Amino acid sequence: MTDTPAPRPNPWIGAISPYKPGEAKLAGRAEPIKLSANENPWGPSPVAIETVRAHARGIHRYPDGGATRLRERIGFLHGLDPDRIVVGTGSDEILQLLPLIYCAAGDSVVHVRHGFMVYPIAARRAGAEPLAAPDTDYTADVDAILATVRADTRIVYLANPNNPTGTMIPGSEVARLHAGLRPDILLVVDQAYAEYLDDPDPDGALALARTAGNVVVTRTFSKIYGLGGLRVGWGTGPVPVIAALNRVRTPFPTATLSLAAAEAAVADQEWVARCREANRAERSRLAAAIDALGNHGLRAVPSAANFVLMTCPETGPLSAASIKAALEADGILVRHLPGQGLPHALRISVGTHEETSRVIGSLARLAA
Ligand SMILES: Cc1ncc(COP(=O)(O)O)c(C=O)c1O
Repeated sequence: MTDTPAPRPNPWIGAISPYKPGEAKLAGRAEPIKLSANENPWGPSPVAIETVRAHARGIHRYPDGGATRLRERIGFLHGLDPDRIVVGTGSDEILQLLPLIYCAAGDSVVHVRHGFMVYPIAARRAGAEPLAAPDTDYTADVDAILATVRADTRIVYLANPNNPTGTMIPGSEVARLHAGLRPDILLVVDQAYAEYLDDPDPDGALALARTAGNVVVTRTFSKIYGLGGLRVGWGTGPVPVIAALNRVRTPFPTATLSLAAAEAAVADQEWVARCREANRAERSRLAAAIDALGNHGLRAVPSAANFVLMTCPETGPLSAASIKAALEADGILVRHLPGQGLPHALRISVGTHEETSRVIGSLARLAA
């Protein structure tokens, strides 16, 4: 052993708890039912799959780093200026870059207590302090968020609908949150699950991002569009914010095949509408089956997304950990998030009709 000094990461890097993805493997099961990552169980538009095949021959060329055609299609669909859209390696990339742009070490970033794991990671990457605002019955509480904001707060993240709770606040509350924030604080509304609602801008945040100087909205192709494996997301907001993102993003954030698939997927809104309907039907069935076991201490938190947070008794055979193990024995993977303050709950992604029936059957057997 020598005493030569080793490279040392910045001190705030050690404070990051690495992101834990939903489990995908189950010992002894070649193909478990994966309901742990809020993916689209029906997959992407068949047109997107064909398009990927057709573009395979061109992969020796670099992709269009500026995602021109995809931004045009997104802009057309949502009535947005393509120049005010940035495409990233999943919406994750955009969410993670914002604190690097807007926070200095020691500044703070606010997110809701039972919120998406990426926000505190993104804050810490920039040396900022993540501040968790308490929520009310698993729902973002605007007054609590505003009370958590400090003089050194630079960003407020709001996932709406929220992950992992599935709850949503209405446009009037988003507007109240925005009105209560200083104009130098960036409000980031993460609409990863917005396409699961009928309204094309279910909380009015896209409209806000068109006019306000401090609102960014992010969306993803990983959820209803079924392209999680291809890593495509986007954001829209004020010109200076988009310009800053374009300065710091990687030069080619999205691969050729990913761009081609996303362009095809966004053009197939019929598929999106079918998935939205199917999700609604299966989510209702799942939530009703959970609530029917209310006398056993199970409850489905009302969800606007493609998953249901099921709260469980603290102990016993129907505790979250026991149910997770029992579902695994039945070949079903769900998400337990004790590290996010939810040791008593499981997040179950909505599956196909057959997958949902399997979950409902397992829960009913467990409670019998
Ligand atoms: C609220 C929320 N935002 C963003 C993402 C990340 O999406 P992407 O795959 O586009 O990085 C997820 C994924 O689970 C999410 O739940």
